[in-house]
Amino acid sequence: MLFDFDMIQRVYQQLPERVNQARKVLNRPMTLAEKILYAHLYPGQEIREFQRGKDYVEFAPDRVAMQDATAQMALLQFMLAGKSKVAVPSTVHCDHLILAKNGAEQDLEEALGRNKEVYDFLSSVSNKYGIGFWKPGAGIIHQVVLENYAFPGGMMIGTDSHTPNAGGLGMIAIGVGGADAVDVMTGMAWELLFPKLIGVKLTGKLNGWASPKDVILKVAGILTVKGGTNAIIEYFGEGADSLSCTGKATICNMGAEVGATTSVFAYDHRMRAYLEATGRKEVADLAESIKEYLRPDAEVYENPEKYYDQVIEINLSELEPHINGPFTPDLAWPLSKFAEAVEKNNWPDKLEVGLIGSCTNSSYEDLTRAASVAKQAKEKKLKVQAEFTVTPGSEMVRYTAERDGLLDEFEAIGGVVLANACGPCIGQWQRHNNPDRPNSIMTSFNRNFAKRNDGNPKTHAFVASPEIVTAFAIAGSLKFNPMTDTLLNEEGKEVKLDEPKGIELPEKGFDVKDNGYVAPAEDGSQVEVKVNPQSERLQLLTPFPAWEGADLKGLKLLIKAKGKCTTDHISMAGPWLKYRGHLDNISNNLLIGAVNAFNGETNKVKNQLTGEYDEVPKVARAYKAAGIGSVVVGDENYGEGSSREHAAMEPRHLGVRAVIVKSFARIHETNLKKQGMLALTFANPADYDKVQEDDTIDILGLESFAPGKPLTVVLHHKDGSTDEIKVNHSYNEAQFEWFKAGSALNLIRQQSNA
Ligand code: F3S
Repeated sequence: MLFDFDMIQRVYQQLPERVNQARKVLNRPMTLAEKILYAHLYPGQEIREFQRGKDYVEFAPDRVAMQDATAQMALLQFMLAGKSKVAVPSTVHCDHLILAKNGAEQDLEEALGRNKEVYDFLSSVSNKYGIGFWKPGAGIIHQVVLENYAFPGGMMIGTDSHTPNAGGLGMIAIGVGGADAVDVMTGMAWELLFPKLIGVKLTGKLNGWASPKDVILKVAGILTVKGGTNAIIEYFGEGADSLSCTGKATICNMGAEVGATTSVFAYDHRMRAYLEATGRKEVADLAESIKEYLRPDAEVYENPEKYYDQVIEINLSELEPHINGPFTPDLAWPLSKFAEAVEKNNWPDKLEVGLIGSCTNSSYEDLTRAASVAKQAKEKKLKVQAEFTVTPGSEMVRYTAERDGLLDEFEAIGGVVLANACGPCIGQWQRHNNPDRPNSIMTSFNRNFAKRNDGNPKTHAFVASPEIVTAFAIAGSLKFNPMTDTLLNEEGKEVKLDEPKGIELPEKGFDVKDNGYVAPAEDGSQVEVKVNPQSERLQLLTPFPAWEGADLKGLKLLIKAKGKCTTDHISMAGPWLKYRGHLDNISNNLLIGAVNAFNGETNKVKNQLTGEYDEVPKVARAYKAAGIGSVVVGDENYGEGSSREHAAMEPRHLGVRAVIVKSFARIHETNLKKQGMLALTFANPADYDKVQEDDTIDILGLESFAPGKPLTVVLHHKDGSTDEIKVNHSYNEAQFEWFKAGSALNLIRQQSNA
């Protein structure tokens, strides 16, 4: 048994009582999302009517899942906490680092060689700390989570944007950064902006070529890429219950494309069937016993406008297949209008590659529907016009699909089966004939921003369901409509593709020989974590030093950043991602994207020790080497964007003691606090203008530090004059302890050792 039955049982025992308690306080009916959220409040968090989109609330999720790219820094940090085991069931999934090139077997073998040090680290650290490890080739994080771990009414976080996939099994599953995973794995409270609620009422029933993917493609067109920001999308209505569990997961997965915090469906008989088919009858029985708590209250159905901030209605019976793109997932085209759009926009008509599968669309049902289309190519003597690839989401799905002849159908039309991994979905694709001209591909994945799949800015990527992608690959033209058009076969006859036929769950059951799971040691105390000291990609962390107990004096201004400064400006992604497990190496990108307010340039700041201009990381290193702390000054909403923990760890590593800004993005502010830095805001935002390029800075009042009490900053200017300004902070008592200890993890370690 892979799932933690005791934990699930505990959640189900507590859930009814917690929901009843919350309902009493709120004194109104509750949506499903609210039930799950209120049932997962962190101990001590007050129960009240939270202001949606405004209040930050502390939660205690049940599980953590990490993919191999983001897991590296999260686990390096976890090691600093001094714990012998993770506080909640956690898993690592090796899916992001496998390059798709020649097919599953060869690609996997190459990845095992190329990423050996990362895999060795992740498997040994998992083994030591009680974390389930899914080997390279075992499958894609979200598919594996759905098949093994997700459960109705649960709450989890995952270090990947498409974690909401588990909403298909009724779970509140949220994509986060590594720092959040560390919080939950160490047993700390996990903070979330209490989300707004968008209700999507589904009526009718899908038919013909329309599939669950088309529901979310349609929703993306309505909400656009920003429309779901800070909201949970909750699907309800009789149409919702008519969708398979894996279809629901596809819809939830792509909620990330509209910026939603997560998406969720209510527990129903389709979830029950999926739980049973994947060997979790005991979970289904438990869910069944409290099922009214795993669905919204009846009044919510009757009067949705009263309980959701926005309501969208979609009639599945009338839903057409959609094709979204290019370059953005919210450009939604109903199939009947697509050919016209291709013509009008002059998109390359020829389809060069069709790619199906991925974490979004590789369920058994998806593969059977696509295979039923592929099969027709042979039967109707059609020559397939485009290249075609299939990415199974897990070894279980792959093995079962092979057993049932589905992979044969794909291979018969020239399909290449890729490793059970992200591959082309994340840009890990060495595309054959990647042309230097406008060209079109169609995928059943979720994202289609420029360069996402093949790194080629001229590739127009369109997103559709696997069966639509398969039909288009056969036709080889974007102007084809399988619902109305015929194709000329090898005998010169006009033939038409029949509607796809799917099988929700395999008649002979799922099967797998080696699912790729490695259970951790019962007692990991003797397990050694493998990190090669020569590695450029991985480096063990050393704890940051504790506060010296006195005011900070003689700090140098590192940079006064002007305008937008997101976590991407602070810690750039792209080529730097290969160093995400090596703090010292990745710190060479510190603030290189930020604009210096004094010269309007990026990555060019004055080194006050030499008077010369140099790159930000180099200047920071120079101050650090001289034993001098530094200060970063910023503008409004400093640190917005992803919750990337590197953006807080790097300045700390390079000697920054305080970040003083007009305002912070909340998550980054908290991340700075956790790393033991001072996150401060100008009491008078106009004081930003008083900071000069050659300033030496004192921060006073730390010895009498108290929540709500401002600190004093003295700016010593080069001409000998000074400015004394007030700065505010939002530290509570507990957070100030993080500062004193040098970081939140230092504090946890002290407490674990106590
Ligand atoms: Fe993400 Fe695609 Fe992998 S969405 S988890 S990169 S398959």
